[in-house]
Amino acid sequence: MKTMTLLAMAGAVLATGASAQRPDPRPAFHFAPQRNWMNDPNGLVYYDGEYHLFYQYNPHGDRWGHMSWGHAVSRDLVHWEELPVAIPETADIMAFSGSAVVDWNNTTGFGRNGKPPLIAIYTGHNPKAKLQSQYLAYSNDRGRSWTVHGEVLSVGSPEFRDPKVFWHAATKRWVMVAVMALENRAVLFTSPDLKQWRFASSFGPAGGHGKNWECPDLFELPVQGGAPGERRWVLSINLGDNAIGGGSGGQYFVGDFDGTRFTLVAGWPSDAQWMDYGADFYAAVSWNDLPKDDPRRIWIGWANDWRYAEAIPTWPARGLMTVPREVTLWKTPLGYRLAQAPVREVERLRGTRQDFTATLGETPLDLPIAGGSADLMVDLDTGSADQVTIALTDEQGYQTLIGVNPGVDELFVDRTRSGPHFHDGFPARHIAPVDMKGKRVRLRVLADQSILEVYAADGTRTITDRFFRGGGQLRWSASARGGSARLSLQAWPMADATKDTR
Ligand code: FRU
Repeated sequence: MKTMTLLAMAGAVLATGASAQRPDPRPAFHFAPQRNWMNDPNGLVYYDGEYHLFYQYNPHGDRWGHMSWGHAVSRDLVHWEELPVAIPETADIMAFSGSAVVDWNNTTGFGRNGKPPLIAIYTGHNPKAKLQSQYLAYSNDRGRSWTVHGEVLSVGSPEFRDPKVFWHAATKRWVMVAVMALENRAVLFTSPDLKQWRFASSFGPAGGHGKNWECPDLFELPVQGGAPGERRWVLSINLGDNAIGGGSGGQYFVGDFDGTRFTLVAGWPSDAQWMDYGADFYAAVSWNDLPKDDPRRIWIGWANDWRYAEAIPTWPARGLMTVPREVTLWKTPLGYRLAQAPVREVERLRGTRQDFTATLGETPLDLPIAGGSADLMVDLDTGSADQVTIALTDEQGYQTLIGVNPGVDELFVDRTRSGPHFHDGFPARHIAPVDMKGKRVRLRVLADQSILEVYAADGTRTITDRFFRGGGQLRWSASARGGSARLSLQAWPMADATKDTR
């Protein structure tokens, strides 16, 4: 019977003439392009009722190459509409990562009919000339079509990339933070008009070192729990390898920025402070120009790891973003810490809530969660147990675990047995330190077919990991090891945002 089904299925797929591959389950509430390769988020900007999400995209295949800016828009950060490629590669130049702004004061002169232009500043990567320099393109039709103005900043380097540009109100000029990737340095420039750039300062190496630094961001946040009115600047930097999850990942620094120079707060630790402890959170950058009545800082990350990014077993699209996350800054007894939470708009996709409480022991208990796309609030009292786990199991017995080890204050995601092997870097256990002295821990878990986003310690610790099942539906269960524990769960099935019309 089983053989028949498989043969019939293979036949059906082959009959389409497309490929012998089976499409993998699509996420319900995470953005993925319909097909082809995607990496970093680019050009995040809000304008005229729309959040723009541009991204590194290969229009011609499902591996890295022909880098162009793909494009999607949303009115609420959860329902995304994929649009045609915004900035294609040209004969010599690929469109690498960068950012976008609304040029409200028309400093560029590219505005039309009294309307501000959207300006994209991105890296033109010229493999023949071995040069990376910064390019400007503009749009007068809400990002639907773009005119490439050309190169605006070159330092003659093959590794100068990923400009994040924003308006610095205090000095009334534009600021760019980019990287000298191999030198592990962030470099800052300023400009009156986004076309002429002047070198301002350099930061690094510092914190985590790697083969390269990539995709920086720089933004100011109020400090929760700090002195009244205290505000600080966050410099985020991504590392191409050598990050906490084993491959590529992000770190951040907290300090001050005077429009020219970023300086660390006193006592900032010399070791890396990680944005996320999983393997699949990379190149996160934040939106520019959110509406005046929305004080949030929101970023989104690419849910992948450069070690195995091109090998992940998905088809016909290879690329997924996390949900947009609100980023806040806290003063804690341990120092300044970033916290992340899914944007509240994600909750709009929640279906009917299921409540469930249970005492857990060695025998796994089924949880009343239907399917692989869910939003969970989990309260654990670890009691006498030395480990508590929630397992996601597929029909072939492959299993991904979310768990805590109170004795060693660890939260983990274990994907050592989460699906058929495809890359040596993939099967691993990712650990985040979480204080569990009180034996209680609250986890927010977003699961969406092939991604887990786990938020703990009020969002100051997150683990973002992809997982790829062997086949069939996913089933949820929970258990405790070495004693008994209490679980209290609120679970919402999530609507498919690609079909949902709310
Ligand atoms: C980061 C990155 C960037 C570069 C882009 C190319 O993932 O390597 O530094 O601009 O990807 O696609």
